[in-house]
Amino acid sequence: MESVESFYDELSSRYTELISKCVPRYGELMYNMFHYIPADLKPSRILDLGCGTGNLTEQILKYYPEAEIDTLDISEDILKESQKRFMAQPNVRHIQADFRHMHLPPGSYDLILSSIAIHHIPDPDKINLYRDIQQALKPNGLFIFADQTRGINEEIYKKHISRWKEEAFKLGSTQENWDMWMQHQDAHDFHTPVSWHLKTLEQAGFKEVDIIWKNIMWAVIWAQK
Ligand SMILES: C[S@@+](CC[C@H](N)C(=O)[O-])C[C@H]1O[C@@H](n2cnc3c(N)ncnc32)[C@H](O)[C@@H]1O
Repeated sequence: MESVESFYDELSSRYTELISKCVPRYGELMYNMFHYIPADLKPSRILDLGCGTGNLTEQILKYYPEAEIDTLDISEDILKESQKRFMAQPNVRHIQADFRHMHLPPGSYDLILSSIAIHHIPDPDKINLYRDIQQALKPNGLFIFADQTRGINEEIYKKHISRWKEEAFKLGSTQENWDMWMQHQDAHDFHTPVSWHLKTLEQAGFKEVDIIWKNIMWAVIWAQK
C-alpha cells in the first residue's frame, strides 16, 4: 500500500488547489483557530504540525509576523512547496519529520497548531502525540487543531461522508477528485469522534479542553496546558 508520505509527495504541486475544493468552509475553520487564542498570549515560538504546502503557516504569519515558526511535515516534496512559498521569511523553519517521533524539547512552544493532519495517525499514536505536545508546550501554552472527525455512531459517520460529498462538489471537486480522496481515506485516514479527542487531551494533562467550532465532520479543538 502507498504510504501517506508518498501520497503527499505525489500530490504536492496540486495540493493547494485540490484542498480548497475539498474542505467546506476552510477559510472559516482557519479563522476560528485564531479567534479563540487569548489576546494576552503573545506567542514567540509556534509549531505547525503537518504543515503541507503552508496554508496554516500563511495564517500564522498574518497573526504573528514576529514569531519563530517551525513547520513540520513527513513529506519531503510537500515541504519543498512550503519552502518556496516562504522563501522570503527567515523566521519560518522547515522540519521533515514524522509527528509520531518528534522528540521535541520540553517547554519549548507557546502555541502548537495543526490543520487537517492528525487524522492520518491511528488512535494509539494520537494518545502519544497529545502527551508529546503537552510536554513540548510552555506553562499555559495552547494546542489548537482542526481536523476531520468521526460520528459517534456509524449512521452519523456515513451521513457526514455524504454531506461532505455534496459540499465538495459544490466547491468544484470532480468525481475523479472525490474518488482520489476516498481511496486516500480508506488507506490512510483514522477519523475519531470529538468526545474521544477531548477525553484523551484531558488524560494527556491539558487542564482545559473544548470544541470551539464544528461543521459536518470538521472540528476545531482547543486545549490549554
Ligand atoms: C491534508 S494535509 C494538511 C496540510 C495543511 N495543514 C493544510 O491545512 O493545508 C495533511 C498533511 O499532514 C502530513 N502528515 C501526515 N502524516 C504525518 C505524520 N505522521 N507526520 C508528519 N506529517 C504528516 C501530510 O504529509 C500532509 O502534508
